[in-house]
Amino acid sequence: MKYGHFDDENREYVITNPKTPYPWINYLGNEDFFSLTSNTAGGYTFYKDAKFRRLTRYRYNNVPIDDGGKYFYIKDEDTTWCPGWKPVKTELDSYECRHGMSYTKFKSSKNGVQAEVLQFIPLGFWGEIQKVSIKNTSSKVKKLKLFSFIEWCLWNAEDDMTNFQRNFNTGEVEIEDAVIYHKTEFKERRNHYAFYSVNSKINGFDTDRESFLGLYNGFDAPDVVAEGRSKNTEAHGWSPVASHYIEVELQPNEEKDYVFMLGYVEVEEDNKWESKSVINKKPAKDMIAKFDTVDKVTTAFNELSAYWDNLLGKINIQSGEQKLDRMVNIWNQYQCMVTFNMSRSASFFESGIGRGMGFRDSNQDLIGFVHQIPERARERIVDIASTQFEDGSCYHQYQPLTKKGNAILGGNFNDDPLWLILSTTEYIKETGDFSLLDELVPFDNDMSRAKPHFDHLKASFYHVVNNLGPHNLPLIGRADWNDCLNLNCFSKDPNESFQTTGNKKDGKAESLMIAGLFVVYGKEYVKLCHQIGKTTEADNAQIHIDNMIEAVKKDGWDGDWYLRAYDYYGNKVGTHENEEGKIFIESQGWCTMAEIGKEDGLVEKSLNAVKEHLDSDYGIVLNSPAFSKYYIEYGEISTYPKGYKENGGVFCHNNPWIMIGETMIGRGDEAYDYYSKIAPSFLEDISELHKVEPYVYCQMIAGKEAFKPGEAKNSWLSGTASWNFYAITQYILGIKPDYNGLSINPCIPKKWDGFKMKRVFRGVTYNIEVTNPDHVSKGIKQILVNGNVINTSIIPIQEEGQNHRITVVMG
Ligand code: BGC
Ligand code: NOJ
Repeated sequence: MKYGHFDDENREYVITNPKTPYPWINYLGNEDFFSLTSNTAGGYTFYKDAKFRRLTRYRYNNVPIDDGGKYFYIKDEDTTWCPGWKPVKTELDSYECRHGMSYTKFKSSKNGVQAEVLQFIPLGFWGEIQKVSIKNTSSKVKKLKLFSFIEWCLWNAEDDMTNFQRNFNTGEVEIEDAVIYHKTEFKERRNHYAFYSVNSKINGFDTDRESFLGLYNGFDAPDVVAEGRSKNTEAHGWSPVASHYIEVELQPNEEKDYVFMLGYVEVEEDNKWESKSVINKKPAKDMIAKFDTVDKVTTAFNELSAYWDNLLGKINIQSGEQKLDRMVNIWNQYQCMVTFNMSRSASFFESGIGRGMGFRDSNQDLIGFVHQIPERARERIVDIASTQFEDGSCYHQYQPLTKKGNAILGGNFNDDPLWLILSTTEYIKETGDFSLLDELVPFDNDMSRAKPHFDHLKASFYHVVNNLGPHNLPLIGRADWNDCLNLNCFSKDPNESFQTTGNKKDGKAESLMIAGLFVVYGKEYVKLCHQIGKTTEADNAQIHIDNMIEAVKKDGWDGDWYLRAYDYYGNKVGTHENEEGKIFIESQGWCTMAEIGKEDGLVEKSLNAVKEHLDSDYGIVLNSPAFSKYYIEYGEISTYPKGYKENGGVFCHNNPWIMIGETMIGRGDEAYDYYSKIAPSFLEDISELHKVEPYVYCQMIAGKEAFKPGEAKNSWLSGTASWNFYAITQYILGIKPDYNGLSINPCIPKKWDGFKMKRVFRGVTYNIEVTNPDHVSKGIKQILVNGNVINTSIIPIQEEGQNHRITVVMG
């Protein structure tokens, strides 16, 4: 069942039934200021950091779900309704929510009144615009009452939800004209405030939540709306809110527009006050003046649209498969930009208070957006690398506001450092900018300990070399990519975190996933060294890679697939000898990508085993059989019920590793089959089962051993976005940036006749047309550049400013 449809022309998903199986959300904002908006107008807003600089409240896992947001109440005689349907939930005559590129539009109607709400954050602006248009489509004069509503958060979102003996006392506001200012804690340690304005005269306002709602009412039945007039309250402590009241009289066919703004202001320390206890409102007024007319709003909205034209214009395909095209051209790239901004910090699932920017996550996210915003990607790489230590280890996460490593969580996840080689080499291949390697980048954010960025890569490489276990395989540390395979944890205390506890000191558990990862990014490190003339370093590094390959072949092969690990006791994990958890996806993915033992058929055998044991209707599960009891020596993985999360769920992030592995042995049908099983647009028709948005990837789809296979959870903020984009564009479609050009090596389903890709690479546009007359999956017969045959599969960098025609014949 569907709850809407794709509008590819406008790059929108159009939800036509508000009762989606879960809130279907969108992200607004592109730089410093962000909002999340659900299809029923729920959500929240923050500046840079969802934990430390939260503007509005949101309650996670509330009952009912998705309560609290940016609400407009329209009172038309005895009927009250909302353009987003919630919170009042009056049955609407029509409803439409269009989630687009950094904006959301509601268009609803009731009893001859049509309301449109457009929400977006103009580029470079610290405020959310809500343009509200109300039209009388009836033949009578309409006298309507419009109420806006938001609830302020007292800035620190975590403290806001827990420290009630303080929080009930601190809330402070000011009201001037049609602007409500939220100035809690401004008089002491904060140099920032927020405001909520509208560009028209108002007939009243409220800032005290209890007065607005009534103590015993929810958002669905505010007292003020029921009574039809504001109480003009000024909040002192408790929970400050902001609500405007506007009387709207409309002749038949008349339409009126209002521009609301939810803004954020920072002022200099010595310029905080206008007069005693009165805040300096000048910066807010300047912001309001920027968008006080509909024309100004329209101009900013068009700029936003042009911004996305540019970002999405760098890779565009025509494959003849509509579902694929809309993923690659629109939604997958869009999601990659959102993960760039948020990492795993702020969503409807992640409360925005627990997690910052992950070291491994942010490095991996980069491969999905580096072609769109290379300069910002470079800055991100430097931010991440700055949280590393001289020995190559690093903080597992850092906070976006301070960019400092999160000491509470610490580090010791031994896969982390290697991902820096991935992000850096992909950045250089995309841009040709080798100067990054010379930039001085601090260790542990201490500039006095800065070294050229290249040294960070070296430290990452040798962190593995210096931390090998009894089988000469990499020590796993707290965990590798799979946070829940905690082999040194041995936790009996339900109150301790699997991620931060390591009860066994000097843990000797080893990871085959890191072994494969090391071979893949070790080779990249060597290739980079050759590029920059560090041949001795390349030769030295190669020895360690060769040793690792030998170690995997000797002690990491189980007969039909690669082992997953050795546990604390030196026992095999992921072996046919075990009853549960016989085979795991991660080591099959990385060791096949690394092509370890390919010459002896290991890669093919491993991928066949994946097909046999891990594949399912809804994607490839993480391990099989799933664990049915708690294995203290394995940790959190065995705490999840069978088929969920890391215990036998389809953990979408790792599926592309297998797709890429398949392309290593030329199996395009298999690779694409895996791709289409988890690509959200392919799942639109089963939305009632899938539950989450059909336009973005989610973290997990319940696996074959789950109670409800196919049911997905935790959409949006997942490394799934970048990895799938990377797998489809660079390995399946096979157009891949390299240091000296664009490499062409597609691995597609045999039945395809070919495809077209427009690729902007280092400022040059390549119009690539691949044809497949012999219906093969892999192999190239001929490549022509502007009509001239070339005899390499890497298209040399062409002249800037021109469009180049690349014709590829497979066979
Ligand atoms: C989740 C993992 C997550 C980890 C860290 C675990 O409970 O299952 O997916 O990476 O927590 O937050
Ligand atoms: C989610 C985390 O953000 C990511 O870092 C981790 O690799 C996966 N969970 C798998 O456990």
